[in-house]
Amino acid sequence: MKISVFGIGYVGAVSCGCLGQLGHEVIGVDLSAEKVEMLARGVSPIVEAKIGGLIEAGVAAGRLRATGDVEAAVAWSDLSFISVGTPSGADGGVSMVAVDKVASAIGAAIGRKSTPHTVVMRSTVPPGTAEDRVIPILEQASGRKLGHGLAYYSNPEFLREGTAVDDFHAPPFTLIGAPAGDDAVVVRELYGAIEAPLHVVPYRVAESVKYLSNVFHAVKLAFANEAGAVLASYGVDAREAFRLFCEDRTLNISPAYLRPGFAFGGSCLPKDIRSFLALAGQKSMPVPFLAGVLPSNQAIIERVFEGIARHGRRRVTLFGLSFKSGTDDLRESPFVILAERLIGRGYELRIFDRSVNVARLVGANRQYIEREIPHIERLLAASPEAALEGAELVIVGHVAKGDRAAMIAALSGQAVFDLAGVPELQAHGAAGRIEYQGLCW
Ligand SMILES: NC(=O)c1ccc[n+]([C@@H]2O[C@H](COP(=O)([O-])OP(=O)(O)OC[C@H]3O[C@@H](n4cnc5c(N)ncnc54)[C@H](O)[C@@H]3O)[C@@H](O)[C@H]2O)c1
Repeated sequence: MKISVFGIGYVGAVSCGCLGQLGHEVIGVDLSAEKVEMLARGVSPIVEAKIGGLIEAGVAAGRLRATGDVEAAVAWSDLSFISVGTPSGADGGVSMVAVDKVASAIGAAIGRKSTPHTVVMRSTVPPGTAEDRVIPILEQASGRKLGHGLAYYSNPEFLREGTAVDDFHAPPFTLIGAPAGDDAVVVRELYGAIEAPLHVVPYRVAESVKYLSNVFHAVKLAFANEAGAVLASYGVDAREAFRLFCEDRTLNISPAYLRPGFAFGGSCLPKDIRSFLALAGQKSMPVPFLAGVLPSNQAIIERVFEGIARHGRRRVTLFGLSFKSGTDDLRESPFVILAERLIGRGYELRIFDRSVNVARLVGANRQYIEREIPHIERLLAASPEAALEGAELVIVGHVAKGDRAAMIAALSGQAVFDLAGVPELQAHGAAGRIEYQGLCW
């Protein structure tokens, strides 16, 4: 394939070297005359392991060239990579200045050629960039419509500086954002020689995954550094504690707890975060990241409460009261907190939770619920049908698999706000049989 790479910084230079190695013909384009001149001479414009030899070999073999001439590069190539910088702007938001400029220059050059052209976004850009920003710029500048001589894909780069060449050849996966119904054959072919799972997804999902990855890496580092410092202040070898912590691949280093949804609660997580913060406090150890966890959790409850208020319906049924399905543990359940807020604001509330039988609650669990929601028995319904009678809005916190069919059958025109992502409800919503709102899906 003939490929033009726009922006030959850390990402673009690696693309130039590695695409050449895969047998493609490549031309690097940059605003910096110095970088263009270096690449043209076979010298890497960046310091990065293994890239120098690849660039030198590519130029020597005539497969890799460089230019500052956008029009010539687009005219010569079938496909353009965009790998220009997306730094932080003055307000902390991402600056799209370079992306806008390069898209408009590439679009104008496409308008002046007669053959089809594909544009592939490698830079890290916010969700919505393809549909709301770059495709409109390309269409306007080229005079073509997407799918008619113009194709656009989002293909975020997951390399790390220092091991970029190896990462290029062994990515965690190849992610391609594409329009619905387009299986992105051109981009698939580009990476034909790379063995990695390949996913073709909507543009916004592809754009999001790159952000999620970097934010999560930063979150992991902040957690490890803060928690490590607290442990060290108690004489613990934090590296050894973390080594063992990471050995748990069931709950710790795993997809567990990584499904976005409603707030957490229960008798362990909030309590142990509070005690860890207290340990930090006793050693005057600043832990702003860990201190933000409980406020963040509370903010989700508030957001859901506001979502309920916006519905403007006063007769509300809540499915799920214990902190998670299949237990009667009510201590610090976010659903109890939500129920309290609703009662406090005068909502008429009914609750169904098959695992919660107040008569059978004992000890701290019973004291907790009697203190938080006095007369709770009056609110609890014995069946999904009874819970739904007269309701205008249904909040689904959790509902056991065995109760789902009865709940769905008993729905009769109520709006449903699903905090759990119950697949049967989602399917009903998608089929237009109920007024359905998911929490973040
Ligand atoms: N650095 C990394 O490890 C890494 C990894 C994955 C993704 N990313 C993302 O990739 C993108 C590029 O990052 P980078 O580190 O390579 O940036 P960089 O600053 O090293 O390189 C960007 C290059 O684009 C050039 N450029 C700007 N406008 C141009 C235009 N109109 N035409 C041609 N060239 C132009 C600049 O002169 C510069 O050489 C960013 O969105 C970044 O977030 C970076």
